[in-house]
Amino acid sequence: MEQNKPNGAECSVGSAPRHIAFIMDGNGRWAKKRGMPREYGHVQGAKVFRRIIEYCGDIGIEIVTVYALSTENYAKRPKKEIDTILTLFEEYLTDAERDAPSRDLRVCFIGDRSIFAPDIRERMAALERATMSRKKRLNVAINYGGRAELVAAFNKLIASGKTNVTEADIEAALYTAGCPDPDIIVRTGAEMRLSNFLLWQSAYSELYFTDTLWPDFTESEVDKIIADFKGRKRRYGAAE
Ligand code: FPP
Repeated sequence: MEQNKPNGAECSVGSAPRHIAFIMDGNGRWAKKRGMPREYGHVQGAKVFRRIIEYCGDIGIEIVTVYALSTENYAKRPKKEIDTILTLFEEYLTDAERDAPSRDLRVCFIGDRSIFAPDIRERMAALERATMSRKKRLNVAINYGGRAELVAAFNKLIASGKTNVTEADIEAALYTAGCPDPDIIVRTGAEMRLSNFLLWQSAYSELYFTDTLWPDFTESEVDKIIADFKGRKRRYGAAE
């Protein structure tokens, strides 16, 4: 059935995922366990984020998406914590700008950018433009919400004059337009939910939950997850 085909990310049993998405959960608890403020967990989490995206690239994963900040986190967490995450984000942006000429990595930002000052928004757009022809891709979800993404997409379609939409129209209006859907979504931190992450794109994603808190997450756990994924049979609604 044409309408139920996943967006580009078809993998058969035994093949590695093309696209892995991470819900990087557990930073706060990791810090609390050490008697440290939550912000310390995010600082450590940002280091692990850099290591894991590097590793995924090294082992040939084509697309990685990370959930760095949800719209709900932004609205509901103390300013100090949000400021720390936004500072870590800006540090990553600076490093990505520096590394862009020498790395085969397309960097994309998904989410509502209105929280950023115009100069940061311009730097985000410039990095996206400068890296848009690279083969490997990183999507950083920042001030991202899956429902907000869908609402924005529907409003875009209404504004374009459409009165009847297809799945392809909606896909093309999302922040992730043109990007294959995640083959697997990994959530660390012992919670088993998607928390408003990639609601449209996750229709046929495999899900993997681990108790490991994000700052303790390692490359060998990525290997374990890929091995687990390779054993899964994806049917996309078809019979066995
Ligand atoms: C969830 O853990 C994590 C976040 C809300 C922030 C994730 C941010 C990073 C990993 C660092 C920044 C990365 C970039 C790219 C800027 P939590 O705080 O909800 O943990 P808890 O459930 O233990 O409280």
